[in-house]
Amino acid sequence: MSEVRHEFDVLVIGSGAAGMTLALKLGRHHRIAMLCKDDPTEGSTYYAQGGVAAVLDEYDSVSSHIEDTLNAGVGLCHEDVVEFTVKRSAETINWLVELGVNFDTRTAGDGSTEFHLTMEGGHSHRRVIHAADATGKEIAETLSDHLSELDNVTVFPKYVAVDLITRDKVGLKGKDCIGAYALNLETGEVELFRTSHVVLATGGASKVYLYTSNPDTASGDGIAMAWRAGCRVANLEFNQFHPTCLYHPEAKSFLITEALRGEGAQLVLPNGRRFMQDFDERAELAPRDIVARAIDHEMKRLGCDFVYLDISHKDESLITSHFPNIHSKCLELGIDMTKEPIPIVPAAHYTCGGIVTDKNGTTDLPHLYAIGESSFTGLHGANRMASNSLLECMVFAQAAAEHIDAHPNEPREPLSIPSWDDTQVTNSDEEVIISHNWDELRRFMWDYVGIVRTDKRLQRARRRVQLLNQEVSEYYSNYRISSDLLELRNLIVVADLMIQCALRRKESRGLHYTLDYPDLSEKPVDTVLTPPSFG
Ligand code: FAD
Ligand code: SIN
Repeated sequence: MSEVRHEFDVLVIGSGAAGMTLALKLGRHHRIAMLCKDDPTEGSTYYAQGGVAAVLDEYDSVSSHIEDTLNAGVGLCHEDVVEFTVKRSAETINWLVELGVNFDTRTAGDGSTEFHLTMEGGHSHRRVIHAADATGKEIAETLSDHLSELDNVTVFPKYVAVDLITRDKVGLKGKDCIGAYALNLETGEVELFRTSHVVLATGGASKVYLYTSNPDTASGDGIAMAWRAGCRVANLEFNQFHPTCLYHPEAKSFLITEALRGEGAQLVLPNGRRFMQDFDERAELAPRDIVARAIDHEMKRLGCDFVYLDISHKDESLITSHFPNIHSKCLELGIDMTKEPIPIVPAAHYTCGGIVTDKNGTTDLPHLYAIGESSFTGLHGANRMASNSLLECMVFAQAAAEHIDAHPNEPREPLSIPSWDDTQVTNSDEEVIISHNWDELRRFMWDYVGIVRTDKRLQRARRRVQLLNQEVSEYYSNYRISSDLLELRNLIVVADLMIQCALRRKESRGLHYTLDYPDLSEKPVDTVLTPPSFG
């Protein structure tokens, strides 16, 4: 039993764009602990390629960005939230520029220097500001450098949060969140973090699928922890599949940015024919749900494992200057994108639903916040528009920071919070249960809860996920925890919530497409799930 206890004002779980922005905004006046499962920059943010959507061009407008987001979201975006976010886009970019984020520039017609803005699906203007094709790395490293200058912020790398602690869980009145337990991966001990506020910034859950663009951190931990603690979740049926991930046996999770299509890349079949115009008049620049579904359709129709993305008709200098990382990664694997098409497949990319929050990032539990991809703010509706995610991370981190600042830290009266008790469990002698169930879960989610669904497939997945849940819960009660076990336990919870949401939606809308209900229903409604421990 570990007796290690930490006391801080704010516990931030996650060090992506959302967590780091919040810590930077609060770190001058509050003592902050920031946990991350790996190194501080490891997470989806680091791998972001395309950029950040923002209204920066004189010919663009807030109303146009709002309209494009609403169209991509197919009637389910919360209009007030879209407006709230888009109106803050320019100031968010200014903040990043002030911090030193080095976005690409170009020489304008009058000889002055301006930001180079690229184009992505669903956008009617060039409005995606970027740092070549490695925007996330540039942002993550800049935020991390600034954080390291703040004495008030202590980063705990290789700590996996296990569960939230609420007052009622320790025998007191109220559901206020007062901290969390976290597994220290170096010592194998579970430590206690006692704080006045807890912020979940744990990212998405795309690891629930066999093929994903996401890094290993994306196992839905925050969503599962919040659900267990009593928070509602919403719209988890909307899993975004990115249309273009590199198809190559050695290229695990490598994305080919949508900005390539923004700069003229075309999707072609193995026989060289373009096909997107058969599905949507915007062709390659239709929103992602439409493009991913079209590719899936063509792959199934032709029985092929991939299609191609071709930009070889463009100038070599444009390709190598805008996409240097993709160019060199492809070359490493023997593909010269300046001369030949790139084999691609869709893969799970983004979790549009999540923990229900308001515009301040507050959740159903007092003192618990959720920001970034783990949250459901209402911004994305049934399909997130490209490059709106990093924007959401930073806008809502700022809003949550302001809310926390306006609500002084609670006096942390001494509470008898029990330490993590592992005296009744033993070391497992059957680790294979974890690896087997990881594979099984991710395979059936891919096969039955993928781009095209039916009730029968969803029911099949539900039965399997319930079985896994039973088996893993039993294992969890009997054996000492590991990070793989914690992630599997969380993925099972989130998979179950995704399937439940999908079963409730009796229509096809945005990213949720089912052969049983192929049409849009008249009235768009969110799918909100309420946990047994709610209220
Ligand atoms: P993340 O950046 O994923 O960070 C999650 C953090 O939580 C990590 O530090 C992780 O260690 C930590 N964590 C998770 N669980 C626990 C736990 N139990 N205990 C402790 N710590 C935990 N969006 C755009 O807008 N533009 C783009 O160009 C773009 N490109 C993308 C390219 C790729 C390849 C991917 C995968 C995504 C892309 N996205 C893009 C989406 C966007 O990057 C993510 O939605 C966003 O970065 C999420 O940020 P976040 O801060 O919410 O989470
Ligand atoms: C990409 O660069 O294609 C990813 C952009 C995003 O997910 O918003």
